[in-house]
Amino acid sequence: MQMFRKIGDEVILIYNPRNESVEVGDSIKVLDKSAGRGLIVQVIEESLVDLAGILEDIIRTESIGEIKVETYAPPEYEKYKLDVRNMKFARAKIRKELKVDDKGESIGDWSGWVPDRSAEVSPVDEDWLMEKLGIKKEFFKHPIMLGETKHSKKAMSISAFHLQGITIIVGKKGCGKSHIAKSLLLGLIDQKAKGIVFDINDEYTSMRLNADDNQPSPYFDRIIPLDPGVNMRFTLPYIGADVFFDVIQTTMGLPEASAYELRNLWDDLEERNNLSFENLRNAAENTLDRRILGAITRRLDRMQQTNLFSDDPNQAITLEGKLNDIQEGGALVINLKMKNKDTVDLVVQTVLRKIQEILEKGYSPMFIFAEEAHMYLRETNWDDAVTRMRHLGTYQIYMTNTPTEIRPLVIRQADNLVLFHLTEPEDIQHISP
Ligand SMILES: Nc1ncnc2c1ncn2[C@@H]1O[C@H](COP(=O)(O)OP(=O)(O)O)[C@@H](O)[C@H]1O
Ligand SMILES: [Mg+2]
Repeated sequence: MQMFRKIGDEVILIYNPRNESVEVGDSIKVLDKSAGRGLIVQVIEESLVDLAGILEDIIRTESIGEIKVETYAPPEYEKYKLDVRNMKFARAKIRKELKVDDKGESIGDWSGWVPDRSAEVSPVDEDWLMEKLGIKKEFFKHPIMLGETKHSKKAMSISAFHLQGITIIVGKKGCGKSHIAKSLLLGLIDQKAKGIVFDINDEYTSMRLNADDNQPSPYFDRIIPLDPGVNMRFTLPYIGADVFFDVIQTTMGLPEASAYELRNLWDDLEERNNLSFENLRNAAENTLDRRILGAITRRLDRMQQTNLFSDDPNQAITLEGKLNDIQEGGALVINLKMKNKDTVDLVVQTVLRKIQEILEKGYSPMFIFAEEAHMYLRETNWDDAVTRMRHLGTYQIYMTNTPTEIRPLVIRQADNLVLFHLTEPEDIQHISP
């Protein structure tokens, strides 16, 4: 293999596929031995060499067609001719610079330097690369297994520590976003972390069972399915005025003035230890002016229809209580499949606000997995949640197949980006930091 040229941050390598195999994704070392420097490049495209001479040869062979031509050439020449015709290019991105001195080999950021054409080109062992990059499992106190590398099947892990902050997973439908998210989730659970999953397709609770025999998996008790309106309901005293009024104003769009009136009724009921959904509604109907009553009851009716609130403490849960059940690590998986928009919006906003409150009281950081977050997080709420949760040390993992829907603020603040194949230039543009 030889380095042919450099264009921008890419190099073109030429190789004979008969002797060497190169695939997209492979890492390759280009080493200038005398200088003690080199490059680590990664193949991003393979193609055939199309030199003018080869093209002419192909066209000539094609156009001759049926005519029989006898050529007299030594067999080695024929082989050489064939080899030249079949030579391949590999386009590769320069990822890192390699330094070799008496202390050994080390890898750093690329300085812009390039080796000359005499440089030695050889494939890189993925174990070696992971060691040089400092990303081997042994290096991490809290490793999370992601899977294996594509070609040489080497175990690939990351540190749970690096998931603190914001992780964005983007790619087309079916490319493996949820798959990798589930690996991250199980890894976090193994590291005794706990948190919440907004499960838009009802695909996380199946991890409670083994895929092969349907018997309980080691995660059976650590993955707690919550179904809003069924086994996930809250009382108003638990939800509290701050969360309730934030949600009814932002998610349900109740105007400020009406919220103010309702808040007075709430405070009054709370003082008399009488706060319930029914009492709140009755108080509104009995005391409020017709002009604002409609606006309030319409919202309360919509909230009631989601069945998320209950006046019976025996039917209600608290998030703290559920989190206590997974002290040793686990996830509360909130099933949002087939739920109407009101329910999804209300559940997400209530839970996020409540979690913020819990964290602000000093609860240890947790994780939040949000599948297709743009479907239920409105702009302002999303920005707000991201910023606040981040300060509280929470692990936020957002997955989407429409990257253009991700808020710029979220992208700017992202710590990790898991990027699958994207074809639309505007998607790539949008997600680029
Ligand atoms: N790395 C992988 N190894 C094995 N199976 C995978 C892998 N990534 C994805 N899959 C499978 O491919 C299918 C689609 O993946 P999924 O994660 O649901 O895609 P997405 O969430 O991006 O739409 C699933 O059945 C999943 O189990
Ligand atoms: Mg998915």
